[in-house]
Amino acid sequence: MPNGRASGLIDLRSDTVTQPSPAMRRAMYEAELGDDVFGDDPTVNALQERAAELLGKEAALFVASGSMANLVSQLGHLGRGQETIAGASTHIVEDEQAGHAVVVGTSVRQMRENPDGTFDLDELGEAFRDPTDPHQPITGLVTIENTHAHSMGQPLSLEYTRRVSRIAHDHGVPLHVDGARFFNAAIALGVTPRELAEPADSVAFCLSKGLACPIGSMVVGSREFVHRAWRGRKLVGGGMRQVGVLAAAGLVALGSGPNGTGSDAMIERLAEDHANARRLAEGLAELPGIESAGGIAQPQSGPLDPRRVTTNFVIFRVRRDRAAFLDALAAHGVLFVEYDHGTIRAVTHYGVTAADVDRVIDAAAAALTATATAPAPATAQAATTAPGHSTRRPGAIDG
Ligand SMILES: Cc1ncc(COP(=O)(O)O)c(C=O)c1O
Repeated sequence: MPNGRASGLIDLRSDTVTQPSPAMRRAMYEAELGDDVFGDDPTVNALQERAAELLGKEAALFVASGSMANLVSQLGHLGRGQETIAGASTHIVEDEQAGHAVVVGTSVRQMRENPDGTFDLDELGEAFRDPTDPHQPITGLVTIENTHAHSMGQPLSLEYTRRVSRIAHDHGVPLHVDGARFFNAAIALGVTPRELAEPADSVAFCLSKGLACPIGSMVVGSREFVHRAWRGRKLVGGGMRQVGVLAAAGLVALGSGPNGTGSDAMIERLAEDHANARRLAEGLAELPGIESAGGIAQPQSGPLDPRRVTTNFVIFRVRRDRAAFLDALAAHGVLFVEYDHGTIRAVTHYGVTAADVDRVIDAAAAALTATATAPAPATAQAATTAPGHSTRRPGAIDG
């Protein structure tokens, strides 16, 4: 089934659960292939050229995942003993097994983040190390995450990105954007991907999230930087061979028009996901028992505020036993996922329609009713959890 609904479930755990579109499957079947470690795969080469063109950079590299994209970007920018400035909740800090330390040999200076996903720029200015002091590491990179996941997927504006870039460059340091959902940000902000990428020295974006490809991420930047990232990719075992079979889906997703347009392209349609997420939040906000996530996702307590939803993430709390609620929801054919600090996350994506969202709201109402008095007994939970679909965060649901 093209929208991945063979199971009959509406799966909102992440936008990573999407299935490739029919056009992607056809392109994958028909892709011209070669050995990409020799640079011979024409489909990979075309995808890399397309990604670079779309973001207005000199070069691009196809890698296996968003984590690998961030890792090889760090390898491309940093030397051992250097330090990266990054948001405390971001994927690079929280969800990549400290690859910066284990593989790159660097430290991270964690920044406090505002509810709109930004840093305080004065605090950013103070986070750079003193290179004349031999006690200190040398700041070698600033990273931002756009969209910013833990603030309910807020898009970071072009103006903010420019200001961060200016501060980084004033200190002689490059800016890397972890843009796992970079196109969601561009669409939400109404700017072109090229404009949003312009202040950054490198951008990593995922093909396998909102763009619905089965696998892969891209790293874009200058030719020199991408060459270093390419060496880094080989170091971490990411040299792939006839991988055009996967790159073909990415080429479809990125379309052929200047801003990622094209009949089967996946970028412009992200606006539907954003509208569906808002619709979902509006419905959930009406339900007694659904509450603010707190923290930077929604600082004000009280009901879920749908205005916090500006891209495809909805994050909230339930006044229930969380696991029991998620199991009851799964019994109604809907999957959400446990998120950080006791919250729950739902993510809209390709294959989920506005009618599905209405079904999800009904299912959430039923699950709240079913769990109103006491947590479901263990046996009932086991019986109602959809087989093979974990709604638990352990097991690395960080997508
Ligand atoms: C902001 C961000 N960066 C990077 C990644 C890593 O992507 P992957 O799961 O493909 O390694 C994720 C995954 O969820 C993410 O949300």
